[in-house]
Amino acid sequence: MTFLLHNKSALVTGAASGIGRAAAIRFAQEGAQVCLADINRAGLEAVADEIGEQAFTCSLDVTDANSYQRCIDQMQERFGAVDIAFLNAGYLGPMEGFESLDAALFDRHININLKGVFFGLKALLPAMAAGGSVVVTASTAGVIGLAESPAYAAAKHGVIGLVKSCAAAFAARDSRVNVICPGAVDTPMIGGGNSGIATPESLPRVPLRGSGSAQHVAELAVWLVSSRAGFVNGQAHIIDAGLLSTFVPAPVGP
Ligand SMILES: NC(=O)c1ccc[n+]([C@@H]2O[C@H](COP(=O)([O-])OP(=O)(O)OC[C@H]3O[C@@H](n4cnc5c(N)ncnc54)[C@H](O)[C@@H]3O)[C@@H](O)[C@H]2O)c1
Repeated sequence: MTFLLHNKSALVTGAASGIGRAAAIRFAQEGAQVCLADINRAGLEAVADEIGEQAFTCSLDVTDANSYQRCIDQMQERFGAVDIAFLNAGYLGPMEGFESLDAALFDRHININLKGVFFGLKALLPAMAAGGSVVVTASTAGVIGLAESPAYAAAKHGVIGLVKSCAAAFAARDSRVNVICPGAVDTPMIGGGNSGIATPESLPRVPLRGSGSAQHVAELAVWLVSSRAGFVNGQAHIIDAGLLSTFVPAPVGP
């Protein structure tokens, strides 16, 4: 049996929950040693217990550049370098349309969802092993607008621009960096559909029915960080059951 990530060292942020948890488990199943990083310490310990000896935890606040460096230092001490990084931590927060959005909430989105990725990429660039791969989680809200949360959409659009713009710098060090853009997937972030975000089930125009799961997204992340995706760099990969591929006009009339 071939393991896609045999003996690779992998950093996963947002690993305490949802997509990060699912990806960390899949990375370990494929043979990786995983550094689980998150601000949620209790959640981290629970995921570490699930994975067992292939995982260790590192407290991380993505808004603090030093905090990233501490996790990367620990990985370098253990493994010499970082082979894989999944920068996935993120924040959705309250749904505030443009009229009610204030500067404090806008800043919070930019600090966690965009600047948090910037700090991660800056810390990783010199630390990546040759042949390494970074994947960053944006969103379909990084490709089209989200009237319910313009601040989230602005930050996620920024993530895609940032990753595309630093792909050459990673390639110069023989590493790759890509973005994944999930549509609505069933995780604590969207709270069982209570966030006001449309889910695949609630959108008649989604070509594939059924809810997206964290596992669906984790499978794409596994492929992108593996050598099978060795010629894939600097791209945004949408995983949304076809949501953005079709346009169905709103019904006309009463
Ligand atoms: N669930 C969806 O429908 C969906 C859709 C598109 C994109 N995303 C993105 O996927 C990623 C993962 O989200 P999820 O759905 O698994 O949500 P989640 O809430 O289950 O997980 C997010 C994780 O990020 C961590 N986090 C938040 N702020 C942090 C900080 N400052 N420092 C470190 N960790 C922090 C949280 O503690 C949590 O464990 C996010 O970037 C999110 O924006 C989610």
